[in-house]
Amino acid sequence: MKIAFLDPADASTDALVVAVGAENALSPAAEAADKATGGAVSRAIAASRFTGKPRQFLDLLAPNGLSIGRLVLAGLGKPAEANAKAWQDWAGAAYSHLASSGAASVTLQVETMGGPLPESDAAANAAFGVGLACYRFDRYRTTEKPDQKPSVTEATIMVAGAKAAEEAHTPLAEIAAGVTLARNLVCEPANVLYPETLAEHCATLSAQGVDVEIMDEARLEAIGMRTLLAVGMGSARDSRVVVMRWMGGPDDQAPVALVGKGVTFDTGGISIKPAGGMEDMKWDMGGSAAVIGAMRAISGRKAKANVIGIVGLVENMPSDRAQRPGDVVTSLSGQTVEVINTDAEGRLVLCDLLTYVQQTYKPKAIVDLATLTGAIIVGLGHHNGGLFANDDALADGLTSAGKSVGEHLWRMPLGEEYDKALKSHIADMKNVGGRDGGSITAAQFLKRFVEDGTPWAHLDIAGMAWSSEAKPTVPKGGTGYGVRLLDQLVADQFEG
Ligand code: BES
Ligand code: MN
Ligand code: ZN
Repeated sequence: MKIAFLDPADASTDALVVAVGAENALSPAAEAADKATGGAVSRAIAASRFTGKPRQFLDLLAPNGLSIGRLVLAGLGKPAEANAKAWQDWAGAAYSHLASSGAASVTLQVETMGGPLPESDAAANAAFGVGLACYRFDRYRTTEKPDQKPSVTEATIMVAGAKAAEEAHTPLAEIAAGVTLARNLVCEPANVLYPETLAEHCATLSAQGVDVEIMDEARLEAIGMRTLLAVGMGSARDSRVVVMRWMGGPDDQAPVALVGKGVTFDTGGISIKPAGGMEDMKWDMGGSAAVIGAMRAISGRKAKANVIGIVGLVENMPSDRAQRPGDVVTSLSGQTVEVINTDAEGRLVLCDLLTYVQQTYKPKAIVDLATLTGAIIVGLGHHNGGLFANDDALADGLTSAGKSVGEHLWRMPLGEEYDKALKSHIADMKNVGGRDGGSITAAQFLKRFVEDGTPWAHLDIAGMAWSSEAKPTVPKGGTGYGVRLLDQLVADQFEG
């Protein structure tokens, strides 16, 4: 998709999109179109249920008096409330509305009608919205006919001050690239994307100035990441841990650490999952995708922050070499774990990463992301990620970052009473605490690997990494959830 900015001019375009505010408040461009068409815009509105609400559209085909194929009235809602997210959604929804319309070129005219954003920022966010909305994972569709593909190939954002808008869009395009990278990784099937190949994707970030270190099994063995290695034991694929360092901040400033679960396929291991829906477990690396995408975004826009991304890449398979229920494994922290259920593998990967990143980098805060439990989907559905934290300031920072980018989080409790469920008869802890409060006991397990005084948050994103319902800027499939959230957290809390 080609996205360009243009100062207002007579648009030569297949489809012109103009904004209409709530209760049919016409933008100047909509007003002008009404004049040029002899009142066709007003008549069309009067003939329909269109009122200018967000995600409402009204199309006028081949309107008399205008030299365009289609005029689209796109509801914006109340202009006074049109923040960055609203403009992203406005443009993203307009793109989706037109994607298969037959139009090849679309022009979106951005006018804020007295809203809170400078027009150039609104336009930059509109372009960002289109960039996020036009995502499509079609590399394995070889027989698709042209009329099954989107018709739109070119989007132009028309705005007074196109140059300023283009400049404001530059960092946003880097964030979009991070989201796209994460979505691609989540969508790739597990025969293509496994620990080694996922590590190779991480390595491409060195082109952005990210320092990438790939640790193989011999190295992980030498370090002592045994709980992580135990998960990968049953797989023919070797495990990997990748550390990505972006040091854009002051030399003496401790980094923030982003930790991701990268189970490239989760069969459950010997505690094997039922067949139905098991194909979903290709996206059990969604936490790592969020971290990798965030590192792409942060480095792309040259954030003035020190950020360590670390991902644990393993495949959880049953075989004669797989770990067994009842095995006792010594983690890097020295704590021993009785593996009651080999399907509770994510926490075994994360716990060694948490220890390693604290020992090696003394981070000033840690955020881990994982598609960790089915129980979080039972609790929160697909509208909020689960947030667990030992630090209120970090939790609040994450919640407000999530709100502003539309990646919502809901805080869940931690507490000693939940921790008791992890008591083992043979080792320091079990890896599962039973069915009740399953997401919380999983978080308690992780908390045992966080040193006192280190602000830490755990995001259980099992319900968020994949979507079966399209949103204005998030098509169905891999969502890239977490990239924008982490980028915003870094921008709000760890930069400057
Ligand atoms: N990867 C799964 C969690 C998951 C389930 C993610 C559904 C996305 C959709 C995780 O490794 C897992 O299997 N968790 C178990 C834990 C249980 C054995 C304590 C679960 O949730 O059932
Ligand atoms: Mn599992
Ligand atoms: Zn898993």
